[in-house]
Amino acid sequence: MNVVSLFSGVGGLDKGFLDADYEIIWANDFDKFAVQTYEANYDNPIVLGDINTIPLEEIPDCDVLIGGFPCQPFSMMGQQKGFEDARGTLFFRIAEILSDKIRKKKKPKAVILENVRSLKTHDKGNTYKEIHRILHKELGYRVFCDILNSADFGVPQTRNRTYIVCFDDPAVEYTFPKKVELNSTLQDLLEQDVDDKYFLSERILPTILSDGTGGYKARSEIDLKVARPLCATMAKMHRACQDNYVTQKGRVRRLTPRECARLQGFDDSFVIPVSDCQAYKQFGNAVTVDVAKAVAESVKETLKELGAWVEK
Ligand SMILES: C[S@@+](CC[C@H](N)C(=O)[O-])C[C@H]1O[C@@H](n2cnc3c(N)ncnc32)[C@H](O)[C@@H]1O
Repeated sequence: MNVVSLFSGVGGLDKGFLDADYEIIWANDFDKFAVQTYEANYDNPIVLGDINTIPLEEIPDCDVLIGGFPCQPFSMMGQQKGFEDARGTLFFRIAEILSDKIRKKKKPKAVILENVRSLKTHDKGNTYKEIHRILHKELGYRVFCDILNSADFGVPQTRNRTYIVCFDDPAVEYTFPKKVELNSTLQDLLEQDVDDKYFLSERILPTILSDGTGGYKARSEIDLKVARPLCATMAKMHRACQDNYVTQKGRVRRLTPRECARLQGFDDSFVIPVSDCQAYKQFGNAVTVDVAKAVAESVKETLKELGAWVEK
């Protein structure tokens, strides 16, 4: 099955689909460092550029379209501007790419989108209602939506994300993948001999370990068995009520980029060619590979039932 991948980042979603025997024929991101990491790890090419300025005709027809579209406008930590924020309008770009005008009746058989959990509740549910209306009424897809947690797919990270799965068959039945038992902890994924730079100084420790204050009350906790959600701004080091810190050899430290990669389901063959700062951003932004693969397999099963699955 040919896949077009939008907002590919480091390709968490892409890797899940590749592992489930799909083929990526076109990928895109406008962040040159994300593209650098992508190119170091995948055989298929990726186009560097803003999806808003790439001519729609240049995006090839495909069987399946996937995209973890930018989440800042919908996330709890952002200002929740939704469609008012230019990045929020990227959903409309996806809709344009899928439109009959561009696809000339060769619309993808399935579309898989990923976003933050709060996409469903943003603006009292109106943002999601509009997304659903466009996918269903304007583009003719049957739409399924669920919140999946990475910790339910074998990865010790609490990461709840909205997954939207659409099929062009109006009679289709689809169920999201089943949860699997979690049998590893964050401690199992830790590197043993890490550079001193990841350890916290005595000076910064009290700030990092203090509970949330003011409008943001939260309890500081370190050495969690299941990590808190990785986020794109991890490089800045948030307090321990929002970020992940572990004790090793009697000292407290942050996670390394390699540990963040592991927490997103990338094994150690995954090349990290960029700075720590970029790597934290990229893994904080990524879709967990194990969840992506489970969704990709479930979509494959459904496409097979529909007689629509095409082998590579
Ligand atoms: C949430 S991340 C995607 C994660 C990725 N899908 C994965 O599976 O790991 C969103 C990505 O969209 C990219 N992006 C944001 N706006 C874009 C635009 N206008 N054109 C192309 N890429 C864009 C960002 O650089 C970022 O890598």
